[in-house]
Amino acid sequence: MQTIDNLNEGVGFAHGKIILIGEHAVVYGHDAIAWPLTASQVKTVARRASLTQIHSALYQGSLMNAPEYLKEFVIKLQAALHLPEISLTITSDLPLGAGLGSSAAIAGSITEACFSLSQQPLSLDDRLKWIHIFETSVHGNPSGVDGMMTSTHSPIVFNKTKGFQTIQTPIKGYLAIAHSQIFGSTKEAVALVARYVQLEGNQSMQTLGRLASQAKLFLTQGNLVGLGHLMTSVQTILKQVGVSHTQVDTMVNDALQAGALGAKLTGGGLGGCVIALFERESDALALCQRWKDKGYSPGWVLHLHHG
Ligand code: MEV
Repeated sequence: MQTIDNLNEGVGFAHGKIILIGEHAVVYGHDAIAWPLTASQVKTVARRASLTQIHSALYQGSLMNAPEYLKEFVIKLQAALHLPEISLTITSDLPLGAGLGSSAAIAGSITEACFSLSQQPLSLDDRLKWIHIFETSVHGNPSGVDGMMTSTHSPIVFNKTKGFQTIQTPIKGYLAIAHSQIFGSTKEAVALVARYVQLEGNQSMQTLGRLASQAKLFLTQGNLVGLGHLMTSVQTILKQVGVSHTQVDTMVNDALQAGALGAKLTGGGLGGCVIALFERESDALALCQRWKDKGYSPGWVLHLHHG
């Protein structure tokens, strides 16, 4: 994956991710099922420069005035890799606050670009370690699912203590994905769930964990209808816990009315993206168009097949 262009330039890439089932519960040690969203990417180009600076849609200027989490991260990477002054140009078509793993993808692509510029090989473990450092300052208590899923190209079952397993499934389904246009902060969502668990106990997380186990079985069996029902049940629980949003609920209802087998938020929630499962691609595309007409965008259709 690592690209060594020349001595003065290093390039790094990462893609987005979708959590099919298991967000939040994965922080509490349960499984999450996730898919790569390779249609959406972050690219970082690192070059030697006279002053360390960042060029991105989020921030333009000298590293010294950059947001604290970014500044700390780049300084640590430079120190570890003995990299002198650099410029980082980050381009991305992955929306922020959408639940699609943008912060993990930004960290992964910066890491890969800096390792490449310093001509050092980057193992998956090292890449995940650096993403974890970034995500810990961005949202406090990352499970690691976003780091893993934005760095690998196969769908996985992820568990923060047991590691990950690649999914083989005969399923042929399509996920319609669209952004509610509400920025969802993963940090706030993770903190909100922590308060909920403290007050109400962790039964909801256990139920989400059970639904993820059932989803694994349905994926192996190719049970698309069962998987859809599980997705909607997960949405009901996430709503109870408090991480949905009225706009997300409306989008979920739109999807179910349009004949989706199931629909839910994906990622941290409090806005962000909604995913809806269909057997036919044309139905998924039709929902994306309907969502777009209502002002939710951009939309993707993800083919779930992975044999
Ligand atoms: C965010 O994409 C997924 C969460 O479960 C947080 C995490 O696992 O780090 C909400």
